[in-house]
Amino acid sequence: MNIAFIGFGNMANALVRGILSADNITLADNLYIFHNKTKNDYSLDKCTFLNSSEECNNSFDIIFLCVKPVDLEKAILENSKIFKDNQIIVSVVAGITIDSIKKNINKNIAVVRAMPNLCAIFNESITGLCAENTINEASKDYVENIFKCVGHIRNIDEDEMHLFTALYGSGPAYIMYFIESLVDCDDFKNITKEDKSLLILHMLNSTSKMLFVTENINDLRSKVTSKKGTTEAALKIFEKNNFNKIIKDAIKGAKNKSIDIANKKK
Ligand SMILES: NC(=O)c1ccc[n+]([C@@H]2O[C@H](COP(=O)([O-])OP(=O)(O)OC[C@H]3O[C@@H](n4cnc5c(N)ncnc54)[C@H](OP(=O)(O)O)[C@@H]3O)[C@@H](O)[C@H]2O)c1
Repeated sequence: MNIAFIGFGNMANALVRGILSADNITLADNLYIFHNKTKNDYSLDKCTFLNSSEECNNSFDIIFLCVKPVDLEKAILENSKIFKDNQIIVSVVAGITIDSIKKNINKNIAVVRAMPNLCAIFNESITGLCAENTINEASKDYVENIFKCVGHIRNIDEDEMHLFTALYGSGPAYIMYFIESLVDCDDFKNITKEDKSLLILHMLNSTSKMLFVTENINDLRSKVTSKKGTTEAALKIFEKNNFNKIIKDAIKGAKNKSIDIANKKK
């Protein structure tokens, strides 16, 4: 399979590096990556980098769309020569529907929408996939396998993409925000700020290990929250400030933004 990527920002970087480092995929051909930079500073094994305006005579079986939603139409236009009938188009672009992508590309293509996250770089992405009905099973499997090699996949309906984006696509940033808040709390005399951050990351790592072998998170949390103890004192402040509602509202906000983007592009 010949594969191209349009856009090489955060998400494409994570995907490409994740794919290249996975043991369970062997790429027979180079990946072609169309970027937007006047100067090509990129260099990666098995990758050919081209500016979107450069001529390319290769034909591609799969094209990944990895630009921001606002840049999508222009990116499709600038790369219009590489779009051909019978290709599979994989779009990671938040909020842009299969219908809208088909309208824009205007070829006989099969579109798969994917919502990975940046953890693809460590082969730990959580990716929601939604393929249009007309795609053949072999092509669908091929795309699924690419995402399986960078993490976990789930097939979802297209209308669930908004929620999936809000929860798992943006999720790593919510966790980073929470960690930043922990890092920002009072400093120690004998622990440097860097060491404090590192210990918080170890705590996050070991807590998730514990949760993987726990049947019920709520039970475990109740067990480690002694009555009238320090943890309870902190959790009461979370509750008083409606932490749970803040999180639900934030995810609703991200979901609504994804719906907004989709409606504007209809
Ligand atoms: N970041 C995430 O966690 C995440 C997760 C899931 C899905 N996504 C989706 O992935 C897409 C990309 O997000 P991102 O975070 O990777 O954004 P990003 O870092 O801004 O990357 C987008 C890249 O596309 C390039 N680009 C713009 N127009 C182009 C064109 N005409 N031809 C070729 N390249 C072009 C941009 O170059 P310039 O900077 O030079 O314009 C930029 O390098 C978005 O649609 C987003 O919804 C992102």
